[in-house]
Parts: sequence; C-alpha cells; structure tokens
Amino acid sequence: MQFTQILKRISPLLGLCLLASTPALTIAQAPAAKPAAVISVQVDKALHSVSPMLYGLMTEEINFSYDGGLYPEMVKNRVMRDRNWNQQDWLVVQNASGGARMEKDKTTGPSEALNDSIKLTVTSASLAEPAGLRNMGYWGYPLRPNIAYTASLYARADSAGLGPLSVNLVNNKSGKSVAHADIASIGSDWKQYTVTLHTGNILPSEENHLELTLSKPGTVWMTLVSVFPPTYKGRVNGNRIDLMEKLAGMHPAFLRFPGGNYLEGDHINERYEWKKTIGPMVDRPTHPSPWNYHSSDGLGLLEFLEWCEDLNMQNVLAVYAGYSMKQEHVEPGKDLEPYVQDALDEIEYATGGPDTKWGAERVKDGHPAPFKLAYVEVGNEDWFDQSKSYDGRFKQFHDAIKAKYPDQKLIATAPVTSVKPDVLDDHFYLSAENYFDDIHHYDKFDRNGPKIFMGEYATMEGSPTGDFGAALGDAAWLTGVERNSDVVVMSSYAPLLVNVHNGGMQWHPDLIGYDGLSSYGSPSYYVLSLFAAKVGDSVPESTITGAGPRVAYSVTEDEKTGKVYLKIVNGVATPQELEVDLSGVSAISGPAKLTRLHALSPTDTNTITEPKHIVPVDSTTPVAGTKLKHTMPGYSFEVIELDTKK
Ligand code: AHR
Repeated sequence: MQFTQILKRISPLLGLCLLASTPALTIAQAPAAKPAAVISVQVDKALHSVSPMLYGLMTEEINFSYDGGLYPEMVKNRVMRDRNWNQQDWLVVQNASGGARMEKDKTTGPSEALNDSIKLTVTSASLAEPAGLRNMGYWGYPLRPNIAYTASLYARADSAGLGPLSVNLVNNKSGKSVAHADIASIGSDWKQYTVTLHTGNILPSEENHLELTLSKPGTVWMTLVSVFPPTYKGRVNGNRIDLMEKLAGMHPAFLRFPGGNYLEGDHINERYEWKKTIGPMVDRPTHPSPWNYHSSDGLGLLEFLEWCEDLNMQNVLAVYAGYSMKQEHVEPGKDLEPYVQDALDEIEYATGGPDTKWGAERVKDGHPAPFKLAYVEVGNEDWFDQSKSYDGRFKQFHDAIKAKYPDQKLIATAPVTSVKPDVLDDHFYLSAENYFDDIHHYDKFDRNGPKIFMGEYATMEGSPTGDFGAALGDAAWLTGVERNSDVVVMSSYAPLLVNVHNGGMQWHPDLIGYDGLSSYGSPSYYVLSLFAAKVGDSVPESTITGAGPRVAYSVTEDEKTGKVYLKIVNGVATPQELEVDLSGVSAISGPAKLTRLHALSPTDTNTITEPKHIVPVDSTTPVAGTKLKHTMPGYSFEVIELDTKK
C-alpha cells in the first residue's frame, strides 16, 4: 500500500505528543567542514519533466485565516450568530442614564438567510450622552492613517426617520473617534446603509473599536454590520493586500480549496455548503466551522475562484463527498445522490456558460467568464472514515462527474480500487528527522499508479509558525518531491495562514503569521518560495557521493535557457564541502548565483516582531569550467543557479 503516511501521519492531538517525543535536529559545536560531497549532473540526460503545477497553495478556514485574516472584514461576528456574540464581540455603549439595551430578535431580519437581528433599544440619550453598540473587532480594528474604510449595515427602525445613527471608529486608549460618519435616518423597512469612514493623520494601530450610537431615544434592528479596508487589486469584498502579496511571492501554480476539515465540517449539517456561500452577503446564512468558530462565508465559492484569478493560480476544487469528521457518512447509492448532484452543480457554477442554470447564477453574481477547474478533489482525508464507504462514494462521484465532464481530472483522498483516480492526495505531518530519513520516499514509487498530490505537509516544529529546523525538514522533503515530479505532480503546505493574536491559532506550525497590521513569512515560507521561483522544466540524471545523512539535494534544468538549478540542504551544524560536476555541457558562465537561507540554530525563527530574522541572501560563487567547489555552512539551504552552454 502506498499510503505509508497513514502510519506516520499526525492528527492535531496526536501531533502534540509526537512533537514532544521526537527530537528536533540537535545543535552541534562548530566543527570543521565535512569532506566533500560530490554531486554529478548529466545535464543532457533528462529523466523526466517537472510538473508545471508542482508548487501551489492549500487553504481552509482555520487559525482565523479568512475572517480576521485574508478576508479583511473588521466587524467580528457581523451577523451575531457566533456563540458568545453578546459577551465578547458586541457590547452596549451605555450612557449615564443607563439608557440602552440590546437583545437578539429572532422575528425580524433583512432576508431569508438572515432572518434575525440585534435589537437596540435606546430609552434615554442626547448628543452629549449617546448610547448604542460597540464591536471589538478581531483583536481590535487595525487602522492606518488617511484611509477610506467602507462601513455598511442592514437596519430598520421602530418609526420611520430615526436618526442620525452615528458610526465611529474609536481609539481604545483615548476614547476619541478617529473616523466618523452619520447615517442621517433609518427607515421602518429593512435597508442597507453605507457610509465612508476616513481616518486622518493617525498612527497605525489595532487598538480601536467600532461604535454605532443614537443621540435620541428609539429602537433599531441591525445585522450584517461591516467595515472594510481597501483590498488587493481593489476588489469589492476582496482580500487583504499584504497577505495576497506574500502569497504572490510564493509563485503558486494552484490553490486547493475550501479544505481540509473545513470542507467536511464536524457534522454533515455543518459541511461546506457552497450554495450558501454565493450571491449577496445578505443571502449567506454563515455556518459553524470545525475549528471552533463561526465562518462569515464572506469568502465564499466565487471569492475562492477570484482569489485564484488574482494570483493566476489554477483551481483545485474540493467537493464535499459525504463524510464529516465525527464519523458521519452518507451511504453510497440513493442517499448520496443529492450530494453528487450538489458537486455537479458546483462544477457548473464554476465552469458553465450563461445558458446553464448554475453558470447563469455565476454571471448574476458578477463573473460572466467561466473558470477552468484543473482538478476536482472528492472529499478530504477519507481514510479517516471508519465505515470504509469511500471506495463506493468516490466511484459514484467519479462516474457522475466523468459522465458530464469527461475531461475533468479527479483526485481521490484515500486509496480506492473500484476505479483508478487520476491523482491521489497524500498528507504528511512529520518531524524534521522523519523527513530527512525518508527523502527517498518517492524514488521507487509505482510509476503506473495514480499520480500523487501532496496536498498537505509540514515539518511539525515551531509555533505559531515553523522554525528553521522545520524549514530544513521541509526543504529536504521537497528535494525528494522535486526529484520525483513525474509522480508527485502537485504539493501544498498546510496550514497556510495563522493569526498570531492570543486565541487565533488552532494548529501549528503554520506558514505565514500576521496580526491586523502586519505579516511575516516563516523560514519555510522562503524555502517554498525559492523552490517555486527557481525550478527548471526537466530533471536530469544526477548522483551524490560522500554526503552525510542530513544532506539532501535536487537538480532541475530549464531546457530553453540552459539554466541548471541545484537545491541543497545541510541539516546539521557542520559545514559541508561540496563539489558540483556538470557533464553534457561545454561551459558554465560564472560566477554562479547563490541564494542561501541560514541560521545558527534550528530553533531560530521569524516572528511578528522580528519578521526578517531569517531571509534568503543572494551572492555568487565562482565556477571553473564545468565544475564548482563550494562550502555550505551548517544548518543551511541553498539554491545554486548555473548558466550553462551545451
Ligand atoms: O491542515 C490542518 C488539517 O490537517 C486539515 O484541515 C486536515 O485536512 C488535516 O487533518
């Protein structure tokens, strides 16, 4: 069985025990360089091509990845459906006369999806003593100077013309408003109101909150309260700029979405129901996620597809396949039919023309051009399903999807025997030691079986983001993936994002950390970015001799430009002498470009306060004819770029 990782795989809980018992790479005392390792490359002898989709991204709503992260809505619990909404997120702004109270009203709301609201009753208020509601945001409201924030809400009043309703962004420390606008009057029917809040010359700070207040008595019902900053490429309801720039820096070929466990949900009725995540926000009911918080679904199916469009990534769409994490499953056959139909509708929503039912919905939602789906993944980690129903479920999805979309490539998430999937999704969460020990994992893999998608992997060291030892483990593992990229056609690290504020993280390590105002890449972020940026289109024959067990390498060639990219990992403290010998080329134009990621200890890391402690450093190294001699420092990852002539 090819799924050896099942034995090694780390579940969130098990992971903690395993991490405690698995030693990280240990620090040795600065010894002399080890004798040379010799890498010989037969550049004119290509073994196979490099998959053009080798490096991509995996995403799901975990660690406040979207709400409070990439999806930059500032109002926490904007439809008041998360638990504790009235203890932490929404509070009453009280005045001296105690003139305000709030309660949930389940009898009135602006839509079928949002058929409830918060009822604010103000019995006594004046201009000097306003009263109303306060929202504390996701660890505050991250405000910057001279920015226009768009604020909106759905509201109705007990009598027509109640107002004004003042909208203020208020600094927590000074209690002073830093941006203000009035909604002149609220009518007695549900309606959306929008204002712009301009900050002036303030200092960037997260220590702010939102206040919605009345200065006269009245009752107002509200929901879907929103404050949005400018977004990447100016998309309405789009993504956070700095995080999108970080993702773009990874040169991702694809995005696997929407999960992960987030696709499955804890229970069948908490699964990712894509039809409830499209259209106007007011028609999205929102849903509880398996990571213990409520999802606003502001980043819904169309937003995932547009995210791919913005970063030029191919879509790898995972469809719910009838298994949820608390061991609930749908039997293949009649019971599964509605779920299969839902997946067919989902594919049609993404790819269909305006003449199709769901394609027309997408056009209505503002995206006339159809998307392409590189792959459809059926489920997530279905080897967890103890009922063993996946084979039958996969076949039912497979047959229905292939009947309607014969060219659509499918990914299975567990081994199946009833049909041959195009690709199998393989997940690994291991220690650096385990990764180094297993760098030849794919070398002898069955070339006639399904291709492999390494849909989730990470060296489980460091928190909230991986440390340098983790980066070395990830790099070592990726050398094996790249060398075998005829079999492993795609790979994506998981989880991708983490909000580093207290309470923001459900899983570690993660790749990119952030608070409201800034973000940083872990050392692994730089490893992955380098792997994707500096890769050729074929893998030439090569050998290594004389290397210790913690040296890993891969080599690729760009056949059009003649560039040869050598990636090498030295996972111990001892420097490593290296000789590189190219044959099948007449010369290398020197010097060679060298990009190095290095730290003194595997526990060194990047943090939100020291985001650039470990970053790639560019330099050059001399070449002699078709050879190169070079010493790698201990604990380092290097990419050597050689300009060759045939
Ligand atoms: O990456 C975190 C979780 O790990 C994913 O949601 C799940 O697929 C895996 O178990």
